[in-house]
Amino acid sequence: MKIGILSDIHVDINFMAGDSIVDGLASAIAGNGLDRMIIAGDVAGDHELTLATLEEIETATGVPCLFVPGNHDIWNEKHPAMTAWEAYDALKVFPGNLANGPQPLGEDWVAIGDLGWYDYAFGDPRFAVEDFDRMKIDNRLWQDKVMAVWDRPTQAMHRYFLGKLEAQLESHRHRQIILVLHVLPIRFFTVQPPDRTWRYLNAFLGSPAYGELALKYDVRYVICGHVHYRRQTRINQTTFICNCLNYRNQWYKRSAAEEIADTLKVIDID
Ligand SMILES: [Fe+2]
Repeated sequence: MKIGILSDIHVDINFMAGDSIVDGLASAIAGNGLDRMIIAGDVAGDHELTLATLEEIETATGVPCLFVPGNHDIWNEKHPAMTAWEAYDALKVFPGNLANGPQPLGEDWVAIGDLGWYDYAFGDPRFAVEDFDRMKIDNRLWQDKVMAVWDRPTQAMHRYFLGKLEAQLESHRHRQIILVLHVLPIRFFTVQPPDRTWRYLNAFLGSPAYGELALKYDVRYVICGHVHYRRQTRINQTTFICNCLNYRNQWYKRSAAEEIADTLKVIDID
């Protein structure tokens, strides 16, 4: 079974007339003969556009997509009255959303995943929790502070996702597991070496607890996004993949189709 991996396609920010992200991705999915596509969050900054885009990709390719929400997907910019939970729950109507629960991939494999959140552990410990709770350094406000409004503190949101994922990993530990997150599971994927600003902002990129969980359950692949890097590493038997399409101004190629063809990662799990 051939599975494509990509995240952070940001179809709204990356919109350009005559150069469609969806068309570029559909060509790459067909060209690689994929059986599944995994998109690790940040399809768009509006849950309705995210849903429409996921459906468009599936309709164009006939290939089922697995998806976890990213922080942008639950942002309330277009729906100021919505809480993060309401947008998060609205995204569950997409059948491939792993927030609904694990999805089997053939007889031996299973995909487990969710957004994940952050616990500040990737930030510089010289900052206090109260400093991180402000989500602001100099004049830069981390937009989750105002656009992703949950019903509990940041670190409690992280613990919610960690507990949910651990329960699912426990009940599927006899399977070969692909764990999909939006946030980062290992420090290696954070901004390194961090300048003064990123010593602070790395706090909002994820948590090492997800990586430790993946190693505890001997997960085969951990897939994430969020940081706009394209990196891969292996720890013990676990391959960690961060594979973001990023913003147009970060691209190496001129067109969406070329950039996606270059970026898409394919794993074969037979
Ligand atoms: Fe993100």
